[in-house]
Amino acid sequence: MSIAYHEESRVISLRTAHQLYQMKVAEGNVLLHLYYGPAAEGEMGYLLRTANRGFCGNPYEQRHDRGFSLDTLPQEYSGSGVGDYRLSAVRAVAADGSRSVDLRYVSHRIEAGRAELPGLPFVRAAEDTETLVVTLRDSVTGLRAELRYHVFPGHDVIVRSVRLVNEGTRPLVIGKAASACVDFPYGDFDVLHFHGRHNMERMPERVRLPRGVTAFGSTRGMSSHQSNPYIILRDRRATETAGDCYGFMLVYSGNHLEEIEVDQLGGTRVVAGIHPEGFAWTLDPGERFDTPECILSHSAEGLNGLSRQFHNLIREQVIAPRWREARRPVLINSWEAAYFDFDAAKILRFAQSARELGVEMLVLDDGWFGKRDDDNSGLGDWTVNEKKLGCSMGELSAQIHALGLRFGLWFEPEMISEDSDLYRAHPDWALCDPDRKPMLSRNQLVLDLSRQDVVDYLFGALCAVLDHAQIDYVKWDFNRSVANCYSHALPADRQGETAHRCMLGTYQLLSRLLARYPELMIEGCSGGGGRFDAGMLFYCPQIWCSDDTDAVERLEIQRGTSYGYPVSAMGAHVSAVPNHQTGRVVPMRTRGIVAQSGTFGYELNPNALTDAEKEEVKAQIADYRRYARLVMHGDYYRLTELDDGKEFSAWMFVARDGGEALVNLVVTHVRANDAFPWIRLRGLIPEACYRLEGSGEIYAGSALMAAGISFPAAAGEYAAHQLHFVRVEG
Ligand code: GLA
Repeated sequence: MSIAYHEESRVISLRTAHQLYQMKVAEGNVLLHLYYGPAAEGEMGYLLRTANRGFCGNPYEQRHDRGFSLDTLPQEYSGSGVGDYRLSAVRAVAADGSRSVDLRYVSHRIEAGRAELPGLPFVRAAEDTETLVVTLRDSVTGLRAELRYHVFPGHDVIVRSVRLVNEGTRPLVIGKAASACVDFPYGDFDVLHFHGRHNMERMPERVRLPRGVTAFGSTRGMSSHQSNPYIILRDRRATETAGDCYGFMLVYSGNHLEEIEVDQLGGTRVVAGIHPEGFAWTLDPGERFDTPECILSHSAEGLNGLSRQFHNLIREQVIAPRWREARRPVLINSWEAAYFDFDAAKILRFAQSARELGVEMLVLDDGWFGKRDDDNSGLGDWTVNEKKLGCSMGELSAQIHALGLRFGLWFEPEMISEDSDLYRAHPDWALCDPDRKPMLSRNQLVLDLSRQDVVDYLFGALCAVLDHAQIDYVKWDFNRSVANCYSHALPADRQGETAHRCMLGTYQLLSRLLARYPELMIEGCSGGGGRFDAGMLFYCPQIWCSDDTDAVERLEIQRGTSYGYPVSAMGAHVSAVPNHQTGRVVPMRTRGIVAQSGTFGYELNPNALTDAEKEEVKAQIADYRRYARLVMHGDYYRLTELDDGKEFSAWMFVARDGGEALVNLVVTHVRANDAFPWIRLRGLIPEACYRLEGSGEIYAGSALMAAGISFPAAAGEYAAHQLHFVRVEG
């Protein structure tokens, strides 16, 4: 049993292979948090100490015990307005205008498995999953909070979410509903968060937490390039390989907020969930609201240990079972090869040459529908532009299939151009405030997917294309941030629900399409990696990592992404040089090695390659196939540390059974007469011996990890080394 309740002490313990999480029902049925960290025996109630701290109030029933304060005791899910002045997890306004939420324990239950989360993506049950539901209630308003904990013992993960139910007789307006709240009364932490911008997503930044609140989040109607819904709380002494690290990852693609507060006594509280800015959800009596899920994981093996736990969970329990084992097709995408300038003949010429190189799928990107010769018009009109193509999509896809390639198509379903037939027919389908001109971005508006009629329209429009062509893959884009988030279908007092309802509409649309086309692979995209989150990964097994295809920039982007997400989810392509985003020229071999650490493909005109390049591409594709299993399913290790000043970047994959390893190193700054790059390998079996493919040299696993390995000095810019080790007897 991974969940246990001790009747006498009223302590609930959640255990995974290496973690313990504890809470306790205390005086007055206040639910206190006791502990979250490395596995340990016993109950941690002994850690609770109280003192009259001054200006820390006491609940009425405990008024004779001035030490008992909601403000100083660790809370499991903090209320608001009733004397805990730290971050609140939930806020609500009652019909009489009162704003206090005082949640007290009522009951709990423990169940095998887990239920699905209606309308939202979730972490799929594993064989060993158990669920704890703790019910709290505010006795005055009747607001009930069901705290849900799904325990994944083998994955060292606890998944939290909250269901709010109005059991009162009058409406309640929820202003904040966090997915998780965790108190760490002791410990010195830094936070690692992942900021960015278009073309440079998920840059890790380590922040020393000051007293007070530090917060990261997005109000863009998308998880965003700027702030990924994932943070790591790390012991200040933790490194890549050692020390306590706690990850908090939202399974959500919309507005989100991660707050960390260091309080007056040095305690640290983490609260994560939907961003409260602009959020107000009315719960009529009897209605309920489910928050998105938050994945919690702890590792005592540093950042790399934590990353591996998230990789395994996402690969095995978030991504759809259909794609767990499947090798992803090597694709060629038309975007950087042709942009909007193509017809079917040109696309077929790409396909023909790509096929000869070993590519397995051709993806036709933006520009095949409506009036769409640039990015100013046509979104919403998902009818094939047969005039531009010179044939129907059915014919084009059949010809691509006849060449032996699969076929993929780009869509941006949630958007609408001002210059589109759809907008002319239904201007009220776009999000926009009444009497206000919309804020435009890329000359487009955002469709109101909080409306069922809009979701139904999109379902019909996409099916009409998918039903009349052989489409194996859809690239699902989202190319602007949301503004003017007003729905013409919701009443004035419900506008605070629009952003989340739009997200629910998107999830519904994705679910319906996947139910109808279970073999369809959907790749997520949002101007590159603007919606790279566990919510989208529930539907899309892979996401285009960034519009920046420069291999040297990709080293950082893919590395930053790897703190939370597996490489099997990272779309990575070899593109032409000079690179279209940076103008940088990187050798083909290096571009190949970087893209192979992702879902591999090409984003260039194959007919523009020289014969020598074509041979290199063939070899790259053969290598990708050879290493795909190791890369997609193996353990991933970052070998160069954050901010360690190295002028190279290195990473490796090790098969789960330690049987082989692939080591990659790219020199990012070449210098004359420089020292040899040197790294220590990780994750090998110390007692085993490994043969270096190519040279045939044999190394002890212990030597490669203790003494490390050096590389020859690199000549020329951005040289790459790749070493493949295979375990041998002896
Ligand atoms: C976004 C995507 C690109 C491409 C364009 C098409 O920017 O990230 O890969 O699909 O849209 O407009």
